[in-house]
Amino acid sequence: MPCPSRSDELVFFVNGRKVIERNADPEVTLLSFLRKNWILCLTGTKYACGRGGCGACTVMVSKRDPTSQEIRHFSVTACLVPICSLYGAAVTTVEGVGSIKTRLHPVQERIAKSHGTQCGFCTPGMVMSMYTLLRNHPQPSEEQLLEALAGNLCRCTGYRPILASGKTFCLESNGCQQKGTGKCCLDLEENDSSSLCRKRDICTELFVKEEFQPLDPTQELIFPPELLRMAEDPEKRTLTFHGERVTWISPGTFKDLLELKAKHPEAPLILGNTSLRPAMRSKGHFHPILLSPARISELNVVSKTNDGLTIGAGCSLAHVKDILAERVSELPEEKTQTYRALLKHLKSLAGQQIRNMASLGGHIISRHSYSDLNPILAVGNATLNLTSEEGTRRIPLSEHFLAGLASADLKPEEILESVYIPHSQKWEFVSAFRQAQCQQNALPNVNAGMRVLFKEGTDIIEDLSITYGGVGAATVSAHKSCQQLLGRQWDELMLDEACRRLLDEVSLPGWAPGGRVEFKRTLVVSFFFKFYLQVLQELKKLIRPFPVPNSRHYPEISDRFLSALEDFQGTVPQGVQRYQSVDSHQPLQDPVGRPVMHLSGLKHATGEAEFCDDIPMVDKELHMALVTSTRAYAKIISIDLSKALEIPGVVDVITAKDIPGTNGTEDDKLLAVDEVLCVGQIICAVVAETDVQAKRAIEKIKITYEELEPIIFTIEDAIKHNSFLCPEKKLEQGNIEEAFETVDQIVEGEVHVGGQEHFYMETQRVLVIPKTEDKELDIYVSTQDPAHVQKTVSSTLNIPINRITCHVKRVGGGFGGKIGRPAVFGAIAAVGALKTGHPIRLVLDREDDMLITGGRHPLFGKYKVGFMNNGRIKALDIECFINGGCTLDDSELVTEFLILKLENAYKIRNLRFRGRACLTNLPSNTAFRGFGFPQGTLVTESCITAVAAKCGLPPEKIREKNMYQTVDKTIYKQAFNPESLIRCWNECLDTSSFHNRRMQVEEFNKKNYWKKRGIAVIPMKFSVGFAATSYHQAAALVHIYTDGSVLVTHGGNELGQGIHTKMLQVASRELKIPMSYLHICETSTATVPNTIATAASIGADTNGRAVQNACQILLKRLEPIIKKNPEGTWEEWIEAAFEQRISLSATGYFRGYKAFMDWEKGEGDPFPYYVYGAACSEVEIDCLTGAHKKIRTDIVMDACCSLNPAIDIGQIEGAFIQGMGLYTTEELKYSPEGVLYSRGPDEYKIPTISDVPEEFNVSLLPSSQTPLTIYSSKGLGESGMFLGSSVFFAITDAVAAARKERDIAEDFTVKSPATPEWVRMACADRFTEMIPRDDPKTFKPWSITVA
Ligand SMILES: Cc1cc2nc3c(=O)[nH]c(=O)nc-3n(C[C@H](O)[C@H](O)[C@H](O)COP(=O)(O)OP(=O)(O)OC[C@H]3O[C@@H](n4cnc5c(N)ncnc54)[C@H](O)[C@@H]3O)c2cc1C
Ligand code: FES
Ligand code: FES
Repeated sequence: MPCPSRSDELVFFVNGRKVIERNADPEVTLLSFLRKNWILCLTGTKYACGRGGCGACTVMVSKRDPTSQEIRHFSVTACLVPICSLYGAAVTTVEGVGSIKTRLHPVQERIAKSHGTQCGFCTPGMVMSMYTLLRNHPQPSEEQLLEALAGNLCRCTGYRPILASGKTFCLESNGCQQKGTGKCCLDLEENDSSSLCRKRDICTELFVKEEFQPLDPTQELIFPPELLRMAEDPEKRTLTFHGERVTWISPGTFKDLLELKAKHPEAPLILGNTSLRPAMRSKGHFHPILLSPARISELNVVSKTNDGLTIGAGCSLAHVKDILAERVSELPEEKTQTYRALLKHLKSLAGQQIRNMASLGGHIISRHSYSDLNPILAVGNATLNLTSEEGTRRIPLSEHFLAGLASADLKPEEILESVYIPHSQKWEFVSAFRQAQCQQNALPNVNAGMRVLFKEGTDIIEDLSITYGGVGAATVSAHKSCQQLLGRQWDELMLDEACRRLLDEVSLPGWAPGGRVEFKRTLVVSFFFKFYLQVLQELKKLIRPFPVPNSRHYPEISDRFLSALEDFQGTVPQGVQRYQSVDSHQPLQDPVGRPVMHLSGLKHATGEAEFCDDIPMVDKELHMALVTSTRAYAKIISIDLSKALEIPGVVDVITAKDIPGTNGTEDDKLLAVDEVLCVGQIICAVVAETDVQAKRAIEKIKITYEELEPIIFTIEDAIKHNSFLCPEKKLEQGNIEEAFETVDQIVEGEVHVGGQEHFYMETQRVLVIPKTEDKELDIYVSTQDPAHVQKTVSSTLNIPINRITCHVKRVGGGFGGKIGRPAVFGAIAAVGALKTGHPIRLVLDREDDMLITGGRHPLFGKYKVGFMNNGRIKALDIECFINGGCTLDDSELVTEFLILKLENAYKIRNLRFRGRACLTNLPSNTAFRGFGFPQGTLVTESCITAVAAKCGLPPEKIREKNMYQTVDKTIYKQAFNPESLIRCWNECLDTSSFHNRRMQVEEFNKKNYWKKRGIAVIPMKFSVGFAATSYHQAAALVHIYTDGSVLVTHGGNELGQGIHTKMLQVASRELKIPMSYLHICETSTATVPNTIATAASIGADTNGRAVQNACQILLKRLEPIIKKNPEGTWEEWIEAAFEQRISLSATGYFRGYKAFMDWEKGEGDPFPYYVYGAACSEVEIDCLTGAHKKIRTDIVMDACCSLNPAIDIGQIEGAFIQGMGLYTTEELKYSPEGVLYSRGPDEYKIPTISDVPEEFNVSLLPSSQTPLTIYSSKGLGESGMFLGSSVFFAITDAVAAARKERDIAEDFTVKSPATPEWVRMACADRFTEMIPRDDPKTFKPWSITVA
């Protein structure tokens, strides 16, 4: 250790409060400090990924800039910020912005009232990103808003309402979301009594902007004067903070920094920590000494010269962006080519928070192979100014430097002081290219920097540099190819030769890490082609004024090909939400049918909403971490715990032997015994005093295995080995064989649908508190099914259910992923609690959560469809296989639902549907929003597009022709009336102006070769509920207290879907009292027992009935009193009832909708009702890169009489965006050994705010009724998911247009997700043809496909 002396005091401020840390530990991040510091206890800032990739932990840091002397405010992800880096900084968390106890900040008020919160787990991060933006720009532009939020993920809302709230601060905001009309729809009806926008009973506003309090920048927390004084007279002394394992040294002068670097050459410089920290977490890198140059102003110097720009290595990427933008605005275009190229990538590199933290020096020195800036800096001839005690020197940022060659690298004692980037010159062109899974906040698959310099006045190449990222271990330069092209003319011949040479030089083996090899090879040449065209265009502009001796060398680019040049720009989404207003006679106090804000909305926005892990530390609490299998199928030979138990703080290790009751089931054990069935299966659990100790200990547990066979991962292998979890499920109608004999045409095809990770923002977590008496346990758990947790813990511990109470306050997103698995985590934690006698807290890291818990079942479907030439389908035979993973879980049920729902909206007389769940050595897949429907129905809809292609008709014609038209029976012989389905379809065609736009799309496609548009409209018939009556029962308990306040409890869980809000709307209507009298505290097994999982879109429906029942019972009891004193107040009636000994507590019960299915006969009444909908989406694809932009989506959904249109539209939008993710960007990658690679937001891309369609309209079908459900409402939790497939089919429509133009044969193998890789490779052209292809038998691929 360098400095054995005592630690210095670390001084910073949090929310205006001074923090002095005398023993600051450099390993402690700001996030854990805020959450765990027992004085601060600021749990509003959330943990969701720990890698800077989700923004849930966003806070604002303010510092005084030593150069400009201004206070700078910037958003950061607290999970990557070491507390030691905060010396002299002021931190503002969501609690510091405002509170419901004191004063709400307008950002908080507006995000809640605009319905921008559902589960609320992402909300504090969203608030902080927006708040920071407003601190810097009180009236931001919409583009700035989009940029500020691009680093924040939300899995629930679909982002639209979050943006809507932010837009209310923007300059451009026009108050009404009615797009394009130019005037507010409020003006339309002058005498409207409602303050909401209304036209012919159709409302288009979900909140009243006029009610919002104005933003008053003078009310913000000031920068602490003490910190100002500190900044004015900066400490020049070196500050040292000693932690348990790591020492942080922060010199006050540049000289000291150089001295320290000489003394500790191996110690890294820590700037943004956005590279160091992720490497420590994922690669186990450990640095005992960290040198922080945060106080060294020399590293932030920026100097402009006549020939270039020198930027200090310590400047953040956000600052670099500003500097470059300024330079671009000052200099002539020819000088700023490199700066423009850098700016282009700086816009899409990570999110705002990372750009605020990451330094230019850290970026360059990290030399990530995917670096977005290094390829441009390299071609732009940037040089690095290095400094050490020995002096300074300059090295080029060359290919050798990027490859890490010692001769071209920094010496260990050197630091990078600044970077010099020269101006470009006339006849020189620099461009940047990048393709990632999605447009924003995603690491690139491949990127490139390209520069060419021509001999003045000619098109002769004088100098050429091309570098690529993402195609090797480091940024790769195509130096040889470039040299060989010198002296050549910029023409087609050169292009061809360049492509061949580039492919030869930038070679990528078939097994290359990261996979997507052929795609990457194609991008190498596609990017060069784009560059070729760009330069050609520029050359033409330049050459024109010159005499052109060899003009024949400038091939004219036809307008059709110019589309290759344009990049998709991020656009701020617009749209309208339409819903039916309540009857004008409905009393104002009755909230049913009104867009009431989520009950917890304001608390979400202030961070005061308490989630499971926000519960303060309880006395003697211990932490648990899980040890999981690293083998897919193996015998456990031995488990050595000794080293783990030696670690200080470790209390115990829990194994299967410690379970007093049953260890799960025979096929699905809680803790593995003797053998493991998949990578990620839980084997044992460490219990320690802190989570850090527990995590360190699991690394020390040694498990030896013996591999078993056969190991099966893919559906193909499972079929080969006859490896299934349950018998086949089958439904049949008509005579399929006969029908195939009579049709005009038959087409067969395959559909592969990848799995999906739930990616709920709040990972799985549980706190088990053992009580001192009678083996009682209190369990606080994030679950959709507390009764299941309770039951599982009971059988695991072998104690009666009545000793165990499960509490669910709220869940940070579930989507089906918190139905089954929380019971496993609860039970293991409970074993730990029982064994140690201590409370146990178990919080899964994102990586573990994704590894251990399964998700949506991948699906492989085969179809054979027989049809007439007019598109009428006569026979359809579909066989589906889903990848169930290693245990049964819900796989049999998912198979059943899939088969039952497969017909979707179509009446086909001769049908056969078969489904099987495959047993494989992957983590068990489970329930996921839509429960098989989104995967299965993609097969059905793919049949439709195949028939359309064969008939030469548009798919919508085939859809219409085969859709249910009249009252009929479904395949399982349930009576069915398609009236609302047809209404949704027609309304969707109408509101989206589908037919006009179909023509416009065709026109566009004729005019553009490299960009294609696609449009698709998809109908949906989605059955709601469980296929069993007992699963539709629900209960509620309603207490009226003597002050008149009412406590409502019911069996549903608040997952963000607003069930509690809806329940209080029901209770308010029934009891005829305002919602302010009502309260819901939590869901607890002690108040409502034997509950059913909140799932299948039916929770609000059934629990609503139970609440209604309880309220009606109470009102009946109160009736005589009310009759006696009709003018009395509610409080007076309650007081009287109490006096008269009338019970003020009632249990409500709903026996459930009838539902059954007889699989033997293939008939039943499995679902209580259907939700209908239709969605139309239009996209544009870039055939050269595979990227797409979503131009517009229109959804029409039949919600009947929505209980709460804001919540229901929120569910539709959120599910749609989640579905869009399933079908476009969310891709799980497994190694050939069955290890999940994609374990965080970096590798697994859920939609971000920039993925929202540019125009996004949602309408609830007006005047629709259903007599069955509560107040004629419908459950809308899941159905929107499938409508995301309209984007998928729009993409495939665009791809089909490209393929048709290129004369490529139709392909009836459908693959979802339609990633950029798939799109690019499907749009085959001369570039895909020229890439080398490997024989798959000659290498082991990096990843395997399990669907
Ligand atoms: C969520 C997320 C998303 C990202 N997305 C992208 C993306 O889309 N595209 C992309 O290109 N990158 C991306 N990155 C990577 C990011 O650009 C780099 O991590 C960042 O630029 C590193 O800078 P830093 O200041 O945080 O480095 P640190 O982590 O602080 O340091 C990294 C290394 O640089 C060395 N170092 C730093 N400064 C100096 C110096 N002056 N002299 C000598 N050595 C020095 C350190 O010793 C250390 O070894 C992403 C990162 C995250 C976390
Ligand atoms: S970004 Fe910090 S938790 Fe995800
Ligand atoms: S509300 Fe955004 S993640 Fe749930």
